[in-house]
Amino acid sequence: MRIIRTIAELRSELDARRAEGAIRHGFVPTMGALHEGHLSLVRAARAESDVVVLSIFVNPTQFTEAADLDGYPRQEAADAALAEAAGVDLIFAPEAAELYPAGFATTVHLAGPLTETLEGAKRGAAHFDGVATVVAKLLLAVRPEAAYFGQKDAQQLLVVRRMVTDLGIPTRIVACPTSRDADGLARSSRNVRLSAAEREQALAIPRALDAVTEAVARGETRVSALARAADAILDAAGIRPEYLAFVTPDHLAPVGEVTGPVLCAIAARVGAVRLIDNTELVPASPRTADTKE
Ligand code: PAF
Repeated sequence: MRIIRTIAELRSELDARRAEGAIRHGFVPTMGALHEGHLSLVRAARAESDVVVLSIFVNPTQFTEAADLDGYPRQEAADAALAEAAGVDLIFAPEAAELYPAGFATTVHLAGPLTETLEGAKRGAAHFDGVATVVAKLLLAVRPEAAYFGQKDAQQLLVVRRMVTDLGIPTRIVACPTSRDADGLARSSRNVRLSAAEREQALAIPRALDAVTEAVARGETRVSALARAADAILDAAGIRPEYLAFVTPDHLAPVGEVTGPVLCAIAARVGAVRLIDNTELVPASPRTADTKE
């Protein structure tokens, strides 16, 4: 496995692989501090690619809080060992100046609810500008056939899908299920900053999502009732969510009833760590005459 720092070197290595017949290039963009969630993306890429490229770049332009950027875990040697064991062929780990050369003046900006609601509303428009710009740059550098993103960042996934469609970037965007620890907490590089007590408190987030899922399975469709149930669980754990949203999965439009697929998304601070999680709700199938008790 090679670690590559420049776009020129990456392109020439990938061109050489293509010339040898390795044409399906799968790409997993990350900010490092790899955990099992990233490795599940690598495994999905490995299963359908000849060459797997993983990028490690803590992208400063998508951080809207200096403390979050400064505190973001960085561990390249450990990441390289994990990536190699999971089947990564090439790591692209550029310096900031490689992606943002002197005089850099271009921003990829998506307008509308995909970037202005939920994370965009809480973290500011600069967040998705930063994500869209760096992902566009990475896709242009790697030129992969497919790129793999986690469903935990559901809004990011929608933004990336919209961007590749709008810019005509010929990469298939693959959504992979949220990876969870045994206790249910969605895996995130930021979780290492939770104390044991905070981690316990954070478990109220997946518990709230589970409670909502179960209520929908029992036939509850009113978002007001679902929100009350989730809020009660968060409140009992001392968590005041930044948002608890029920929106359409494709356009993030708020809904009042679960009559079709609905994304339930939560963002909350636990201690100094900001966590997000979500689940897709599917309404219980209406009971037929046969199944009525
Ligand atoms: O999800 C992430 O880790 C980042 O937002 C990404 C996609 C690597 C862009 O910096």
